Amino acid sequence: MSLDLVYRQAVLSVAGNPKVEALIKGRARSLVRRYVAGESLEEALQAAERLEAEGVHAILDLLGEMVHSEEEARGFQAGILELVRKISERPWPKYVSLKLTQLGLDLSEALALELMRGILREAEPRGVFVRLDMEDSPRVDATLRLYKALREEGFHGVGLVLQSYLFRTEKDLLDLLPYKPNLRLVKGAYREPKEVAFQDKRLIDAEFLHLGKLALKEGLYVAFATHDPRLIAEVKRYTQAMGVPRDRFEFQLLFGVRPEEQRRLAQEGYTVRAYVPYGTHWYPYLSRRIAERPENLFLVLRSLLGG
Ligand code: FDA
Repeated sequence: MSLDLVYRQAVLSVAGNPKVEALIKGRARSLVRRYVAGESLEEALQAAERLEAEGVHAILDLLGEMVHSEEEARGFQAGILELVRKISERPWPKYVSLKLTQLGLDLSEALALELMRGILREAEPRGVFVRLDMEDSPRVDATLRLYKALREEGFHGVGLVLQSYLFRTEKDLLDLLPYKPNLRLVKGAYREPKEVAFQDKRLIDAEFLHLGKLALKEGLYVAFATHDPRLIAEVKRYTQAMGVPRDRFEFQLLFGVRPEEQRRLAQEGYTVRAYVPYGTHWYPYLSRRIAERPENLFLVLRSLLGG
């Protein structure tokens, strides 16, 4: 296993400990400010407005995942519906991301499906695109099932995410081809065992490019969601060499990560979106960002030592 993955797995395994969570929540304010647009929808919309002014479009994400009750799931649905209505009043591209466990996937697939239908009935007529984030491997089958069910019911303004670290992803991609999905491709952010996922960064990167090229060849629209300069450069080179028009793919990055690269790509004429998370449930999101980047752990540790 490569060193960066050892680091990531270690951080993700301790991040769930309540004592670690309390410690980080108290000390990670500057990191939260960097990665999270704010706790309110208003703050998120202001962040989106600033991005738009720089030519970068926003993907708004009300943070929340793995809810424990139907009431919580319905509360998140209400928050997402408010978001959908608010952004549909804006002139810029309208795009939200959500997690199915935020809508009660772990409680019942039927509940998550019902809440998704409610969201898409509001979103589609308003031209708001809804992306289903992909969570950890035990939830992949259910996420794919729900996506397919929604498409079979006639909803079209919905897309999904595939993760290049999972062995299964190429097969999932091929199975999805009849749906012509609007795809976001990522490396994958969760702690996954060696039985299901590549543990070597070079293999994950190679798979990312392989899957992205395969999806483009199959005629899918692909959002390449990565900050990795090597992968971004290769996507640019490949699409240019193969004559893939720029309206067939885009780049997506996270709010607060490589903002200068986001602007540069937009200036070069690529479609660029930044994932703008907001809300009070920021801890799991932040722990994945710490797990991706040792410098972020040092910032938290420095603040702990600094008293
Ligand atoms: P990698 O982690 O290898 O980093 C490459 C370089 O990018 C680093 O050397 C550094 O320069 C920079 N970088 C990376 N992370 C950084 C950080 N946190 N802070 C500062 N610099 C950083 N995952 C998932 O499992 N399901 C999902 O639905 C999504 N959705 C999603 C949407 C969008 C828009 C993005 C950008 C990412 C996701 N992800 C995701 C997360 C994804 O799986 C992955 O964990 C992160 O993008 C980090 O991987 P990179 O591809 O950036 O490469």
